[in-house]
Amino acid sequence: MAQVTLDRLTKHFDDTPVVKGISLTVADGEFFSLLGPSGCGKTTILRMIAGFIFPTSGAVHFDGQDVTSLPAHRRNTGMVFQNYALFPHMTVFENVAFGLRTRKVAGPEIADRVARALDLVGLTGLERRPVPQLSGGQQQRVALARAVVIEPDLLLLDEPLSNLDTKLREETRDQIRELQTKLGITAVYVTHDQEEALAVSDRIAVMEEGECRQLDRPEVIYRRPANRFVAAFMGNMNLWEGVVSSERGGTVFRHESGLTVPLPAPATPADEGAPSSPSAEAESAESAKHAEGAVHLALHPQAARLTGDDAESTIAGIVSTRRFKGATVEFTIDAGGVPIQVVENAVVPMASSQPGDTVRVHIPGDQAVILGD
Ligand SMILES: Nc1ncnc2c1ncn2[C@@H]1O[C@H](COP(=O)(O)OP(=O)(O)OP(=O)(O)O)[C@@H](O)[C@H]1O
Ligand SMILES: [Mg+2]
Repeated sequence: MAQVTLDRLTKHFDDTPVVKGISLTVADGEFFSLLGPSGCGKTTILRMIAGFIFPTSGAVHFDGQDVTSLPAHRRNTGMVFQNYALFPHMTVFENVAFGLRTRKVAGPEIADRVARALDLVGLTGLERRPVPQLSGGQQQRVALARAVVIEPDLLLLDEPLSNLDTKLREETRDQIRELQTKLGITAVYVTHDQEEALAVSDRIAVMEEGECRQLDRPEVIYRRPANRFVAAFMGNMNLWEGVVSSERGGTVFRHESGLTVPLPAPATPADEGAPSSPSAEAESAESAKHAEGAVHLALHPQAARLTGDDAESTIAGIVSTRRFKGATVEFTIDAGGVPIQVVENAVVPMASSQPGDTVRVHIPGDQAVILGD
């Protein structure tokens, strides 16, 4: 078990900065994700934590000890790679045993520990199987067994599921989280898939171009993105540019098209269901501060509702596209030139609205987030 601290961690390749002063702490036993688009520096950070490469400046601490210049083999981390990196000419048993043999563990103990690791990942019985005769999911579980068999202080996973199909990805994702919880091991998980990060993480750092754009619990990042980059990256949110002003005793967001959304004060509500974190409160204060001037309003398509009523906080529009997705139906509503993305539960009557239909969209101001950048 280990607490990991990155202190102004920076990496340049040929004078090009790809990691730009990242500071964060991963708590002991935490499942922490680095999430961001391709090329934002996730793998580079993970490799500096593992000790495969060294920072240009800044430091890495494990449990308060400076390990910045310690080579990989002296850090006791287990690593799982996207492409498994198994030895193809070896059996499952030998692949998992490899790290124990290099550590000169005695034969009978190797047999015991490999058996336990294979049991943990559900591969008991496949010990003698050569690696090329395993499915992708099985190979990834061998890679996981090989990483945990050495009883690492820290488990590092670099996009471990990207070679698997959707169903297997979800299954393996849940197995990884279960295993991490069971072993109580600290995990740093790299992915570009927001749903995956939301599903498994205790906390997520959302990265863009070598910088951390938001670090918080999944619920906070999803419901209260700190800026437009996170809002766009986390879920295809509606983003409208406009101004916030005080009108008739309340606060109102006004889009140039005339679309107005009454906002509660403060502009963003407390997180539902979970105690709000200090950073959520800070964001709330931040949102309230942007009460004047040009801002963006962000709203999840799932929060917008189609309605037949001419009630308050609704806006008229025409259905321009309808996509049936099974459990949900995705709509684009043209509200006087403003496209509004709406995701409806497929079972509600309004979900049968068709292109060309006139509808009203309810915009719940209490679920909207006002972004200053
Ligand atoms: N050894 C290297 N030499 C030069 N440039 C590198 C090297 N390794 C990575 N880079 C560059 O650093 C940037 C960050 O790369 P990195 O692999 O960390 O991104 P990533 O977030 O893991 O992306 P992906 O999701 O595609 O794996 C990229 O622009 C990449 O081309
Ligand atoms: Mg990568």
